[in-house]
Amino acid sequence: MNKEDFPLLKQNMNGYPIAYLDNGATTQKPESVIKAITDYYKSQNANPHRGAYELSMTATEIYENTRIKTQKFINAEKSCEIIFTKNATESLNLVAYSYGMNNINAGDEVVIAISEHHSNLVPWQQICKMKGAVLKYIYLEADGNLSKEDIENKITEKTKIVAAAQVSNVLGLVNPVKEIAKKAHSVGAVIVVDGSQSTPHMKVDVRDIDADFFVFSGHKLLSPMGIGVLYGKRDLLNAMPPFLMGGDMIDYVEEQHTEFAELPAKFEAGTQNVGGAAGLSAAIDYLENISFDKIERAEKDLVEYALPRLRELDFVELYGCDSKQDNKTGIITFNIKDVHPHDVATVMDAYGVAIRAGHHCAQPLMQYLKQNATCRASFYFYNTREDVDRFIMALKKVREVLHLG
Ligand SMILES: Cc1ncc(COP(=O)(O)O)c(C=O)c1O
Repeated sequence: MNKEDFPLLKQNMNGYPIAYLDNGATTQKPESVIKAITDYYKSQNANPHRGAYELSMTATEIYENTRIKTQKFINAEKSCEIIFTKNATESLNLVAYSYGMNNINAGDEVVIAISEHHSNLVPWQQICKMKGAVLKYIYLEADGNLSKEDIENKITEKTKIVAAAQVSNVLGLVNPVKEIAKKAHSVGAVIVVDGSQSTPHMKVDVRDIDADFFVFSGHKLLSPMGIGVLYGKRDLLNAMPPFLMGGDMIDYVEEQHTEFAELPAKFEAGTQNVGGAAGLSAAIDYLENISFDKIERAEKDLVEYALPRLRELDFVELYGCDSKQDNKTGIITFNIKDVHPHDVATVMDAYGVAIRAGHHCAQPLMQYLKQNATCRASFYFYNTREDVDRFIMALKKVREVLHLG
């Protein structure tokens, strides 16, 4: 579906048409997104919010219209609840430093899932250290899902913040963030949802989840690198101090005092990424034009096509791929017995297959799974069954190439 819209996917890699299966890391960009970015730089580029001339007003309009589009895309109530950042990592750091530093005290607890990406783990770990707070983990059931018992028991009256991904970037399982939000709110805590691996693949509704904060990166949903989103409930954002200070985030400045701007400018210091916003806007249009129903169906089809064939191979170990799961997304994490994941990825590359190998920025999860590293194939709607066929073919070659039988 739609592969022809993506110029990079028409390329060959090592003599094969590229089977790009590293969409969890970043996605390829369709012509419409590339055009929106180049159009911006060819004919609309100016510093937004600053000039009283037409070009600057056009740049401001592009930027602010993308904010409104993003608000609708994730069903936020107000456009001022959408803060543009560099990426999900910066969004999470903003919440940790601005909200966390001001609301966590000694003896308080922060609860996160063991499967979190370092972006939603290291900031909380460091804030807890600085504040003398306790960082607690929700561990996993045998099938890779978050432990229901831990969700129930670890979130207590002492909890101030709960942070969890809507979809794990390693296990590819949808976490019950709506239920976790309910539990967090029942004890007066706020919930921070990392939507980096969900927003590109499923319809997100921040109000339905009742997320206090929700983050994602544009580059994982067809947009350019360098634009990310933080959603926060307006009252929470209003009460938080700015994270970065400088131009554009002030109302007025005196020698010894600064009055900060209203939302969203308060959190957007310095010149913003308008070209990135132009790309994000085109990406949202592209995704909505396909529809998330179709996107989910396409990815499910690829996973259901791949998994039974992987299960047949006795040298493949799968993680988070229990056949009874109905909350599986397009991420398949695996290892090949006796072969380091980097060697697996290198051999597969020779057959034109791009997969990720390593710790996936989730080292505590790797430690929990007792693995140093794993391989990960992550699909997007533009992947095809032919990509899966070549993935399986290349996988079968790995042990042969390494003379392991
Ligand atoms: C679940 C999750 N959270 C956060 C991130 C960080 O995204 P970025 O590097 O774009 O900030 C990633 C990226 O892989 C991710 O998969």
